[in-house]
Amino acid sequence: MKLCFSVFVILCFTISNGYAWKTPFHPIDVLPLLPKRVSWPILNTLRSAVDLLPSFVGTASSSSDDALEWKGACFYKNEAWMEFHNKSGSEFGGGTLHLKVWIAEVALILVGDFEFGINWVILNLGLISYGRAAKAYVTPWISSANTEVSNAHSWTCMDLYIFATPYRVTWDYYFLAREHTLEFNEWEGKAEYEYVKNKGVSIFLMESGMLGTLRALWDVFPLFTNTGWGENANLAFLKKHMKASFEQRPQPWVTNITVDDVHSGDFLAISKIRGRWGGFETLEKWVTGAYAGHTAVLLKDTEGKLWVGESGHENEKGEDIIAILPWDEWWTLELTKDDSNPHIALLPLRPDLRAKFNETAAWEYAKSMNGKPYGYHNMIFSWIDTLDGNYPPPLDANLVASAYVSNLCEVASVMTMWSHIQPDYAANMWNEALNRRLETKDLDLPQILVETEKRGWSFDKLLTIPERDDWIYSDGKSTSCVVFILEMYKQAGLFGSLADSIQVTEFTIKDAYTLNFFENDESRLPKWCNEGDDVKLPFCQIRGQYRMELPGYNTMKPYSHMNERCPSLPPEYHRSPNC
Ligand SMILES: *[C@@H]1O[C@H](CO)[C@@H](O)[C@H](O)[C@H]1NC(C)=O
Ligand SMILES: *[C@@H]1O[C@H](CO)[C@@H](O)[C@H](O)[C@H]1NC(C)=O
Ligand SMILES: *[C@@H]1O[C@H](CO)[C@@H](O)[C@H](O)[C@H]1NC(C)=O
Repeated sequence: MKLCFSVFVILCFTISNGYAWKTPFHPIDVLPLLPKRVSWPILNTLRSAVDLLPSFVGTASSSSDDALEWKGACFYKNEAWMEFHNKSGSEFGGGTLHLKVWIAEVALILVGDFEFGINWVILNLGLISYGRAAKAYVTPWISSANTEVSNAHSWTCMDLYIFATPYRVTWDYYFLAREHTLEFNEWEGKAEYEYVKNKGVSIFLMESGMLGTLRALWDVFPLFTNTGWGENANLAFLKKHMKASFEQRPQPWVTNITVDDVHSGDFLAISKIRGRWGGFETLEKWVTGAYAGHTAVLLKDTEGKLWVGESGHENEKGEDIIAILPWDEWWTLELTKDDSNPHIALLPLRPDLRAKFNETAAWEYAKSMNGKPYGYHNMIFSWIDTLDGNYPPPLDANLVASAYVSNLCEVASVMTMWSHIQPDYAANMWNEALNRRLETKDLDLPQILVETEKRGWSFDKLLTIPERDDWIYSDGKSTSCVVFILEMYKQAGLFGSLADSIQVTEFTIKDAYTLNFFENDESRLPKWCNEGDDVKLPFCQIRGQYRMELPGYNTMKPYSHMNERCPSLPPEYHRSPNC
């Protein structure tokens, strides 16, 4: 299975190594303060997705001396540690996760100037949060904190947790204060065993508690289930929020290409609509406005053999890497192994660009990247370009960030989870990328916030500093799926003299397929293109039961500093000229 999810929704950088940076506010806390006209649509449509953003609380390891401690929504003191056992008598055995939850006091200390916003500090069982907020926004939170305390015994208050290793994700909920256990009967293999031994099991808290989460799950969970129901949920979500149409196409739903009719540099736009990756892609599409969620590129070698270059290929260890695979192997995987019901379109390069495409340079680049990790660092920055235009409501930077915490980002992410359960290369991506922008080194998130403030910048502004293609992160070069292809295009000469003023890391998948790089004369498309379909698409769909749509396909002439300042907001995704 392959992925190229960039980021879906960012809500708050609750991430930094082993330390949960908590903002005590929930976006929903400020909604009552907004005019009804604004707050109701938000509540009714998109809040559910937000309620599903889990926050990372830590990892439970096997030593009970330094058991993980944190605070939940209902239970104010929680502890977890791991115990290994061999009840299954299998090679690597299994484990029991012990959880102790109990209710404790909350201490809230407010300091500062109530006229112009206050600085507040919350000391909560050793977890210290710091931030600044306007008085008006603090007050409702105080009352909600009080309510939470008095509700702690109520049956409606249950803490809902997600437990994850890179190999499994499971969940449980607690509404009684006592010791609980979670069984892992048998580790899936050596890799999981070693991972849990060294790093522990990652624990995530659903901040909205049981009821909020259930309500949200009702909307969002089906997106991720590998069933017809799940697929329909993805289609419904994209129809509703992106106005996608998903028309049925006639059979055959699979078209085999002929190697002679395709060329190096031809682009593969892939859209997954089912299962885990389907759900992730759906959210990613919604955030970026792209109608495809993954990409790959064709390459021919000097003997004429066809290959596929793909960033975001999942290897046997479950890591997402950049890979170059023979076409037949890749195509067979897509047809037989990929359970996400991938829809695939081939976008052939325009003949003049095909002639210009320097295969030698493209191969050199592809080989230099082969085996490198998928680019988690830069993926988010490609769509956070402008301060207001990029966050889908209710995550709008103005609404959320300036509403209560101007410097503390309220931009969080389902990535929270991934950054902690993926291998190391994903874990530190935010901090490193932010350090790059500040031209600092090794600052953790709290230090980054302090430094940003020292310079008189807002955190939002820091986020919108464009990524540079020549930044190299500690894990070496890495790219997201589409950046890999566009960088190859750049090396192969397709951007011509503009190459130096184009930062391809700023491009989303949509930005790539809207470039006017592709065949514009339908009579020149291969004869198997859209075979059997009564609607002739301007590109060649080669797999999928629904007709793919790529609005704006092949229309945008590249220009210097393209896509460095573009807003993108659902459901219209208006793009300002020359952004
Ligand atoms: C668990 O028990 C089995 C059978 O006794 C043994 O082969 C295996 O090595 C044990 N595994 C561990 C991790 O101790
Ligand atoms: C396409 O290729 C696959 C795998 O090589 C093969 O199983 C299938 O029959 C081919 N389909 C057509 C329509 O030729
Ligand atoms: C193609 O790229 C190679 C390697 O970068 C370079 O040596 C060669 O001169 C390029 N060819 C053309 C026609 O630009």
